[in-house]
Amino acid sequence: MNTIIHTHLAPTLDSERLHLRHFTELDAEDVFAYASDEQTVQYLTWPAHQNVQMSKTIITSLLSNESTYAIVLKGTEKVIGCIDLRIVSETEASFGYVLNRSYWNNGYMSEALQTTLTYMFSELGIQTVTSCHETENPASGAVMKKCGMQWIHLAKQETLFGKTTDNDHYCITRDAWVVRTNP
Ligand SMILES: CC(C)(COP(=O)(O)OP(=O)(O)OC[C@H]1O[C@@H](n2cnc3c(N)ncnc32)[C@H](O)[C@@H]1OP(=O)(O)O)[C@@H](O)C(=O)NCCC(=O)NCCS
Repeated sequence: MNTIIHTHLAPTLDSERLHLRHFTELDAEDVFAYASDEQTVQYLTWPAHQNVQMSKTIITSLLSNESTYAIVLKGTEKVIGCIDLRIVSETEASFGYVLNRSYWNNGYMSEALQTTLTYMFSELGIQTVTSCHETENPASGAVMKKCGMQWIHLAKQETLFGKTTDNDHYCITRDAWVVRTNP
């Protein structure tokens, strides 16, 4: 039986190439670099940042919490993206992510997601992790599949966070994760 309560999440998580840590205002320029790019934010639920001050304000008001991680490329201090864990109950979680477009298709988000899935399943007592992406954004589905998530269903014209789109939904259970990581 899992009795872990998620009052405190790890301040940092590490993988081979990435260091995940919480945001500070000093990250505003790096956040602006990805969050101001219209192509990057087109499938997200928030509009592009207009200036660095807006990024600083959003870091303070929305990103500075213990379940939102800045993705830092090891060997640099550069924040290249963000992954946030959404713990919805003692056993269920979801996540969201975004990466600076200059770094796409290097396997970075798959590495970040794998790291956070491992953390949630092995240390937080999470049993099920679900997420979804707009059907027109297959790169996000590729990340989920590479991390062992199973496609569950297509929700046509679904309204999420005020945006109505076709969405592909994915899921991975702790049991499936255990089989995958300890075959
Ligand atoms: C989605 C996103 C986070 C992926 O990050 P990333 O670091 O490039 O992801 P990875 O390199 O780990 O994997 C990307 C996979 O998508 C695949 N891919 C890229 N573009 C694709 C496309 N147009 N159609 C299908 N697959 C695509 C890549 O080939 C790769 O799969 P592979 O390794 O099997 O070849 C990044 O593109 C991004 O930030 N997009 C904008 C924000 C966003 O969409 N967030 C998710 C909202 S649900």
